Amino acid sequence: MQIPALSDLALIADQPLQRQLYQAFSLRIRDGLWREGQRLPASRQIASDLGVSRNTVTGALSQLIAEGFLVARPGSGTFVAAGFERHQPEAVNWQQQPQLPGLSHYGTALAAKAMPEVHAQLPFTLGIPDLRAFPLSVWNRVQRQQQDRLHLLGYDGYQGYAPLREALADYLRVSRQVQCHADQIVITQGAQQAISLCAQVLLDPGDPVLVENPGYVGARRALQAHATALTPVDVDHRGLQPAQLPAASAAKIMYITPTHHYPLGGIMSAPDRLELLDWAARTGTWLIEDDYDSEFHFHGHPIAALQGMAAQTPVLYLGSFSKTLFPALRLGYLILPEPLVGPFLHAKRHMDGESPLLQQATVAQFVQEGHFQRHLRRMRVRYREKWEHLAALIASELDGLATPVAESAGMHLVLRIPGVNDDALVRDLTDAGFGGTALSSYYVGQDRPTGLALGFANTDERQRIAGICRLRELILSHRKS
Ligand SMILES: Cc1ncc(COP(=O)(O)O)c(C=O)c1O
Repeated sequence: MQIPALSDLALIADQPLQRQLYQAFSLRIRDGLWREGQRLPASRQIASDLGVSRNTVTGALSQLIAEGFLVARPGSGTFVAAGFERHQPEAVNWQQQPQLPGLSHYGTALAAKAMPEVHAQLPFTLGIPDLRAFPLSVWNRVQRQQQDRLHLLGYDGYQGYAPLREALADYLRVSRQVQCHADQIVITQGAQQAISLCAQVLLDPGDPVLVENPGYVGARRALQAHATALTPVDVDHRGLQPAQLPAASAAKIMYITPTHHYPLGGIMSAPDRLELLDWAARTGTWLIEDDYDSEFHFHGHPIAALQGMAAQTPVLYLGSFSKTLFPALRLGYLILPEPLVGPFLHAKRHMDGESPLLQQATVAQFVQEGHFQRHLRRMRVRYREKWEHLAALIASELDGLATPVAESAGMHLVLRIPGVNDDALVRDLTDAGFGGTALSSYYVGQDRPTGLALGFANTDERQRIAGICRLRELILSHRKS
């Protein structure tokens, strides 16, 4: 039996004709319009019916034959191949197939969640550095020098580019008093991957983990992905107080921001940090120290990292270039106790392979030539000025309405605003063109304090004034409602 006439086939003039023929014919076969054994008209006939060249037709037919849609029988013609009746389109609609496997428990929990909107461009959004002050021309010059090196187009190693690890070890030893050498460093795709790696290598499903409450939601999410039970430990404006730690703990790890609590801003005193280290050694708990913004302390001297406060501390130290350089770089680092390096490298290899090499080499040169340190010095001054301006505005405009939580601030500060629905406040603030995060969103459990975390690093003077004036109006109207 011959295929019916092809007159219903409309071709679009400015699209590749051979591709259109291939798609139209294969669709008719898959949809069951053309059935097994039906013979196609001769290629010359198809070409003349459709007004295309014979070469176009033979090209499309050859591909359909090669893929098994058609069979050519020399001397008798080209026929629709067998086997397509079984595969009617309804039968492959996976959404209507209850017998297909469902999602994992983790996937099911994720499917129920709405994806939060990201307002990364709005002033007061947390975690965004002052990108206008980034020394882009120096960065581009360094990157251009690096991108001519053929070596950087290939693979290099899962641990990260050795000159970057060496430059980082030197920098962190001096600036953060971290005790490490380059062999203990693993370069990751941001701090977020570093936290995920810790969860993957150290935790079994259901293992208990201690987290700060309030705390960094990104860390909680990464830890929860490993079916882990999270136990919150209350933290206030002074940072974690050792008295809040459970005397006996089965937790394998505790995630902590000891030198600048996220988000409240508290700094653990040196005796408290030593007590935390003692507790960790006594209870057999790994401490995951997230040193996310300690480069930007304005009060007194920079606080030394927990990791370096004693020899052989049970600390996995992690940091990121997201705030010190820029977030799109997606580079972070983990400093591991030596026995953990091997398993972490395997896990990194299986998770995503290597971190981007050209970026690593660019950062290495940027640090080696002193641009990194110079940039940080400038940003420290700049952020301090922004913070002082914002703190003064808050004191004058929000007196009696909002109270800053802690004295210290790196790139954001937190306001306690009692008596409001802070999620609704954030929504209204976003509609007015300003970012910010609800304080309650950092807490787990009932009785969550309300307020706002405001990132000031990406604001200018005009935006700070407009933002705080708008916030005052919004707090007043939210209190009334
Ligand atoms: C406390 C804390 N840790 C880690 C990160 C993640 O940084 P990265 O961009 O390197 O994944 C952030 C980002 O805002 C953060 O606030």
